[in-house]
Amino acid sequence: MDALALKKLVAQAALQYVQPNTILGVGTGSTVDCFIDALGQAGIPLKGAVSSSVRSEKKLRDIGVPIVDMNDVDRLSVYVDGADEIDPANCLTKGGGGALTREKIVADISDKFVCIADESKLVPHLGKFPLPVEVLPMARNEIARKLTALGGSVKLREGFVTDNGNQILDVSGLVITDPVALEQTINQWPGVLTNGLFALRRADVVLVATADGIKTR
Ligand code: A5P
Repeated sequence: MDALALKKLVAQAALQYVQPNTILGVGTGSTVDCFIDALGQAGIPLKGAVSSSVRSEKKLRDIGVPIVDMNDVDRLSVYVDGADEIDPANCLTKGGGGALTREKIVADISDKFVCIADESKLVPHLGKFPLPVEVLPMARNEIARKLTALGGSVKLREGFVTDNGNQILDVSGLVITDPVALEQTINQWPGVLTNGLFALRRADVVLVATADGIKTR
């Protein structure tokens, strides 16, 4: 099965978590694109969606799902999103698509975070995928120095501006033995919006598409 077929498979499997007539949290990425397509085809009625990106908002509107401002909701029952890496404790690296800050905010108000991915995303330890860090432009070089001091090799995501008007530093070479501690350390530096470690608020359910079907954990 090719990568797109696996994404479609897991997108379909995530529909079972969608509660009709509620407001759904929806993330960002190519796997989520497949999920939004599946949602549209299934025709499950929704009151609306809180989305983590302009890209997903557009797709949701295209299938007739109203976009809800997060300030108008207290909690969401379910949030569906992808990941770039998933470790055995369901800690994630996210932000390959640059939507990490909004993703973390939506995940934070959600009771159940359902992560959807193909099996290529499963890793024994986070760190092979470069860790995205969203920074205020004026703090970019100082944050890069701090990340380098942690042992990372830092690259500015050239020509990319986040939906929040900021920049992304992609950090490779970090040895991530304690994802919770590293998430906290980087997030407390002034100028960091957030980093792509989702360890404090990790996935509650991970649906993984494999050649043998869907595995849930
Ligand atoms: C978006 O910023 C990311 O966090 C995505 O969730 C992640 O990059 C997964 O994307 P794909 O589904 O395209 O692999």
